[in-house]
Amino acid sequence: MDHLLVTGGAGFIGSNYVRMVLRKELAKKVTVLDALTYAGNLENLKEFEGDDRLVFVHGKIQDREAVDIAAKDVDVILNFAAESHNDRAILDPDAAVQANFNGVCVLLDAARRYEHQRFLQVSTDEVYGSTDDMFREGDALEPNQPYSAAKAGGELMVRAYHETFGLQTLVTRGSNTYGQFQYPEKLIPLMVTNAIDDIPLPVYGDGQQVREWMHVDDHARGIDLVLRNGVPGKAYNLGSGCERVNLDVVKGILAALGKPDTLIRNVQDRPGHDRRYLMECKSIRALGFDPDVNFEARLEETVKWYVENEPWWRRIKEKKVEYQAFMDQWYANRRG
Ligand code: DAU
Repeated sequence: MDHLLVTGGAGFIGSNYVRMVLRKELAKKVTVLDALTYAGNLENLKEFEGDDRLVFVHGKIQDREAVDIAAKDVDVILNFAAESHNDRAILDPDAAVQANFNGVCVLLDAARRYEHQRFLQVSTDEVYGSTDDMFREGDALEPNQPYSAAKAGGELMVRAYHETFGLQTLVTRGSNTYGQFQYPEKLIPLMVTNAIDDIPLPVYGDGQQVREWMHVDDHARGIDLVLRNGVPGKAYNLGSGCERVNLDVVKGILAALGKPDTLIRNVQDRPGHDRRYLMECKSIRALGFDPDVNFEARLEETVKWYVENEPWWRRIKEKKVEYQAFMDQWYANRRG
């Protein structure tokens, strides 16, 4: 696996994965295919400007021509590209289907045609729906939202390419992820950056929803473990076991920044909002996955990163169409 194609490599988890691979010299060459839509950002890969191990191709995974150019000479594809925000997919389900389902089909076709060694699909715990217990890998897929339903569809096509064409596929179902370079529409970076600016922190419903939080460095490591050591045809749960109530996460952020809880606003809930995610991760643990379980320390470190990298997120938040228009449209009708 000398040459990796990382789709969505300018996004949050994708760029962190590319950084890990190049810093640790886990591959000789990485091609990134990224559409640079609102969340893709070449600044995330600035560290490798001028590094000829990294090749960038601009394009969507739904675009056969772009995929052909990017996929021709690689050994494996890792698909990080997605429309990944639940709230945006509620406003525009079709965009989620285009990227999370149609795009996966185009990539699978290329992997088959070019006889790639492996194809890894970065998926999500959300394909299972919501649970009071734990999601296990054999559980039914019962997604509740347009984003997660489209991701589940993508996974099913991956499975079909394995069963029908013998493609060596792998799937990772990652839990909620946080860390450096996360677009500030997701819970943690949104709350951190709003709090820095003393802008209200919008908490959906009663704020008692539970998520399993994993640092992006662990997410990247877990994906690489599955790529190299996973059993083709299998889907791997990938989480940390760190379950936290949303409101406690938000209060932790405010405490880390020395800001008051009065900034919190309970706003109208997200429709179809999953109450709780938690996964059993025996299979990936058996491959040697050992995530950091000190969530509070990693959260503080993450808050510090946003404090120290203010120009990075301020440039994003200043964008009228990509950022502010969505924020206005989504949050305007959710006042508490
Ligand atoms: O579980 C993995 C998934 O985690 C990934 O597949 C998704 O791409 C990723 O976006 C994330 O989905 P969530 O919907 O859980 O993440 P988000 O950061 O949007 O929200 C986390 C929790 O915080 C969720 O219960 C909704 C809540 N929330 C979120 C926002 C943006 C709020 O209460 N207020 C907010 O303004």
